[in-house]
Amino acid sequence: MEEVSAPAPRSGGRGRPRGGAGPKPVPLRDVKTERSSRIGTGIAELDRVLGGGLVPGSLVLLGGAPGIGKSTLAGMALAKIAAAGHAVLYVSGEESAGQVRRRAERLGEAALSVSMLAEPSLESVLAALESERPAACVIDSVQTLAVPDAAPGSVGAVREATSALLETAKRLDVTLILIGHVTKEGSLAGPRALEHLVDCVLHFEGERERTFRTLRALKNRFGATSEVGVFEMRQGGLVEVQDPSARFVGEARPAPGSVVLCAMEGTRPLLVEVQALVATTEIVPPRRTATGVDRNRLALVLAVLTRHAGISLSSADVFVNVAGGIRVDEPGADLAVALAVASAQSGRALETDGKPLACFGEIGLTGEIRYVAHGDRRVAEARKFGLDRVLGPPPADEPISGLFPVGSIKAALSSGGPTPALRRAA
Ligand code: TYD
Ligand code: MG
Repeated sequence: MEEVSAPAPRSGGRGRPRGGAGPKPVPLRDVKTERSSRIGTGIAELDRVLGGGLVPGSLVLLGGAPGIGKSTLAGMALAKIAAAGHAVLYVSGEESAGQVRRRAERLGEAALSVSMLAEPSLESVLAALESERPAACVIDSVQTLAVPDAAPGSVGAVREATSALLETAKRLDVTLILIGHVTKEGSLAGPRALEHLVDCVLHFEGERERTFRTLRALKNRFGATSEVGVFEMRQGGLVEVQDPSARFVGEARPAPGSVVLCAMEGTRPLLVEVQALVATTEIVPPRRTATGVDRNRLALVLAVLTRHAGISLSSADVFVNVAGGIRVDEPGADLAVALAVASAQSGRALETDGKPLACFGEIGLTGEIRYVAHGDRRVAEARKFGLDRVLGPPPADEPISGLFPVGSIKAALSSGGPTPALRRAA
């Protein structure tokens, strides 16, 4: 191939000398990559969130509040990886060997064949990795590893442990799952300080008193961050929920303050029931409680209802809840929150042919219903459950069969609404 002539270096310039052996940039398409095959965890929902299983030599941080099920999930994954013929190691600084064994007994026979190391120091873990060469190793938790010359659980200790583990994991091709406790506020020394060091950050969340749990990727160097796994905590460990919509709205009946939200969780449509309660109060300022939806979005929706739909809530407590203890983290939830609150306030159920009303859409500050992605898939999911009328923003291009487009919150609540119930609610 002919050499492309570079502009001649200006006199006094620091052009590379002719024939020099400096590094030569190459087009990315010619860069060699090692495509090592991933290790399936045997838990489909976990594999999906990871982007298709664990990448050998990678570091995964699994965070979540105490008691949410991190140890259970990690223990189950190791059991399945071991059953597939790989060496695995479970390092527990959180619990005694006996406690880990008792959990494994609940999870079944395969979990008992996982090797474990109790009361670990960083040094002993590094030595075990060298000698055992496991394919996957769980550190439960990264905050409990003893590190020389650092206070246990301090940011310094957690960072030092992680850097040392990272070096060893890459060198030996061990996949490491670091478990980290995160408080409700998302703080605590460890996990946040590690996010930039690890390849993948998973967050396990849900209401501890409820059985549903969601697993999200907040960062993933090897896949999308939008995927969400849904689990249910049962007697024998975590069970994957294959059809979450059926779980969340299978039983939903029209009632004042209830509406079905067609949400998207990653690439999956998910129907959830959004409930609201509006109660007169003397308290100033009145209470606003949001469970499962963002507090700030609720505040915005209430302001828009007041300003653009004439619904006054200044002397009422407002509670909004996503049934089943699941969290929806998307702007498309706004319209459902607004309609649930309006319905609760008017005391009238929103329904079509005896079925709950379904909707989706973001609400803008001027009261407009804004476009959100995947309208067609949201509507299709609703229709799968016999919810044939879905309120939502006008589609960007082609009309969506079954979608009743509404341009503003006012239109959604009044004559633009498809049902008499809605008209009465306004
Ligand atoms: P755990 O995994 O210990 O939570 P974390 O490591 O995040 O602190 O488990 C949390 C809860 O799950 C615990 O209260 C007991 C319950 N659980 C079950 O309901 N079924 C089971 O099979 C197991 C193993 C635990
Ligand atoms: Mg634990």
